[in-house]
Amino acid sequence: MKKLKIGIIGCGTIGREIALACRKKLSGKLDLAAVCDADRHKVTALKETVGGRVRILDMDPLIKAVDIVVEAASAKISASVLERCIDIRKSVVIMSVGGLLGKEALLKKAASKGVKVYIPSGAICGLDGLKSASAGKIDSVTLTTRKPPRGLQGAPYLVKKGIDVSKIKEETVVFQGSAEDAVKGFPQNVNVAAVLSLAGIGAKKTRVRIVTSPGYTKNIHEIEIAGDCGRIMTRTENVPSKTNPKTSALAFLSAIATLEGATKSVRIGT
Ligand SMILES: NC(=O)c1ccc[n+]([C@@H]2O[C@H](COP(=O)([O-])OP(=O)(O)OC[C@H]3O[C@@H](n4cnc5c(N)ncnc54)[C@H](O)[C@@H]3O)[C@@H](O)[C@H]2O)c1
Repeated sequence: MKKLKIGIIGCGTIGREIALACRKKLSGKLDLAAVCDADRHKVTALKETVGGRVRILDMDPLIKAVDIVVEAASAKISASVLERCIDIRKSVVIMSVGGLLGKEALLKKAASKGVKVYIPSGAICGLDGLKSASAGKIDSVTLTTRKPPRGLQGAPYLVKKGIDVSKIKEETVVFQGSAEDAVKGFPQNVNVAAVLSLAGIGAKKTRVRIVTSPGYTKNIHEIEIAGDCGRIMTRTENVPSKTNPKTSALAFLSAIATLEGATKSVRIGT
């Protein structure tokens, strides 16, 4: 079978792990063809790390050159990456899912044009149950995210409210509200809230609580879904990645699993 050409936009924590997987675990199925990053040092460092033949390209030429585009850069550009992929009918994996909220029409446009859009489950478990429950009536979806203070540092909501998480001494709820507001206030921390919203009842109705404590060492996501089917509760205790404490290891593993799934005709789960 011909290998699928992969192009990665964003050579940080997630981009690097996907690139390494293309060279190792998925090397028989995927060909890492091109990489792109706004930071020249990051992109050249990744090219050196993975070795072999991989081109450094700007975003547009990269999208043209590959079979599957992986966006692992920023919520500021994920919608425009998706838009360009739709225009020239390229499959795309979106990691900065928060950037798609409010732009759900793009997903409909992709579907109408037959463009494949992959949204990995990220650092949460339970999307399978949520999607199944969505076939019936859902009353509520609530996400409680617990992160160590360093995993929340610099979030726009905290800056605006003057909350210095490094000074927090005990378990504290720093945010409660809709997924829509959570994603705006914590664009690098709660992409999972956006994923849940898209798979379930939308960003206005999905509720989010963000909690921190100096005692936390893991990024924990608890999901509670209530509806006609009953009650579903999941809890995922994630190891934060070494290079970016905001990102959990399961997030890049879910992207790698998604890419592997794109090459398979048999898939287990939804
Ligand atoms: N879906 C999920 O569950 C999930 C989980 C964790 C992180 N994320 C999101 O995935 C993205 C990548 O996460 P990460 O941990 O690898 O972040 P990172 O900060 O380690 O890496 C991001 C990289 O993207 C580059 N970049 C930023 N803006 C760019 C642009 N306009 N054009 C090209 N490159 C650009 C940066 O220079 C950096 O190298 C982030 O948006 C993050 O919020 C999603």
